[in-house]
Amino acid sequence: TAYNVAVLGATGAVGRRILDQLAQSTIPVGEVKALASARSAGQKISFKDQELTVEEATEDSFAGVDIVLASAGGSTSKALAPAAVKAGAVVVDNSSYWRMNDQVPLVVPEVNAAALKDHQGIIANPNCSTTQLVMALDPVYREFGLNQVIISTYQAASGAGKAAMDEVLAEAQARLLGDDMAELAHVLPVKGDKKHFPLAFNLLPQIDVFEEEGYTHEEYKMIHETKKIILGDKNAKAIKVTGTAVRVPVMIGHGESVYIDTGDEKVTTDQIRQAIGAVDNVIIEDDPATQTYPQPLLAEGKRETFVGRIRPDLENPGAFHLWVVSDNLLKGAAWNTVEIAQTLVEMDLVRVPADSTFA
Ligand code: A2P
Repeated sequence: TAYNVAVLGATGAVGRRILDQLAQSTIPVGEVKALASARSAGQKISFKDQELTVEEATEDSFAGVDIVLASAGGSTSKALAPAAVKAGAVVVDNSSYWRMNDQVPLVVPEVNAAALKDHQGIIANPNCSTTQLVMALDPVYREFGLNQVIISTYQAASGAGKAAMDEVLAEAQARLLGDDMAELAHVLPVKGDKKHFPLAFNLLPQIDVFEEEGYTHEEYKMIHETKKIILGDKNAKAIKVTGTAVRVPVMIGHGESVYIDTGDEKVTTDQIRQAIGAVDNVIIEDDPATQTYPQPLLAEGKRETFVGRIRPDLENPGAFHLWVVSDNLLKGAAWNTVEIAQTLVEMDLVRVPADSTFA
């Protein structure tokens, strides 16, 4: 069998990469539809040796479609995912809208592919910083347990879309020419928020809007999604998770400084390195003698998650530091979305149950 696939948000930074990753996946692909807003209808986009004509996404776009790969923002996914499921398609969604819904599996295939078994037609792809984080945390939790995790992120501009990347480049150029950068800031830190600040030559400790207790929405996403993926419950107390999310003037590739406390004084650094290194698609780059460590520039364009700087807390036995880097547009978005679909195909789960909550 071949599967007909619709890419919703095909003109976006992530959508284009979804088409790319789909072409390189093992999914037997039949017809491919490129969907976006009315603004882009008629545009041409290439997929393998075909030229696709972008169509406006509506509730009627999904007849005959088996798999929808969506990255068109929360409101579009809210509006169109149920229509796609009603038409018989399985939706893998990269927006945040469905992630915390109890009827929606939130999946990183290397970590919790088993959660796909009971899907109701919608599967969510986690936030980019969560995905690379759980690749490193899950094996430690399984083998040694985890009391607490403290994360500081160093997140690339591309996580805020193409406009944010363009803005940083324009600001950098202005600064080098001795011009004012401030008036060029329109998108970062958050497009819809009241104030905007330059990211070039700067750090912005705000990703997404502020919520309760002074945390940003991005920080809550990391906390809740990590628990849902590893423990199956966003409110579980079994692992204490907290952190700070920071935007840095990097184009592509998120870095994360991760502090983990296993609570077990006997666990060694070598055991941690081996456990994390045994995960599929994790690459350990960790050798101080040769200055080997993960870097965004080296991770760009790769599907893997890179982990290094693995070392013990010298004053708290059983606790360790990690440095985790991945391409936020690939493992953090497009590749994980396609990888979920590829896993659904392998598990023979490309079907909507007759009694689906969403159908
Ligand atoms: P369009 O290019 O027509 O605006 P990015 O995050 O890089 O801006 O990409 C967002 C993607 O989501 C684009 O493909 C965009 O299409 C698409 N999109 C945005 N709003 C809608 C909508 N209301 N219906 C369908 N697609 C949408």
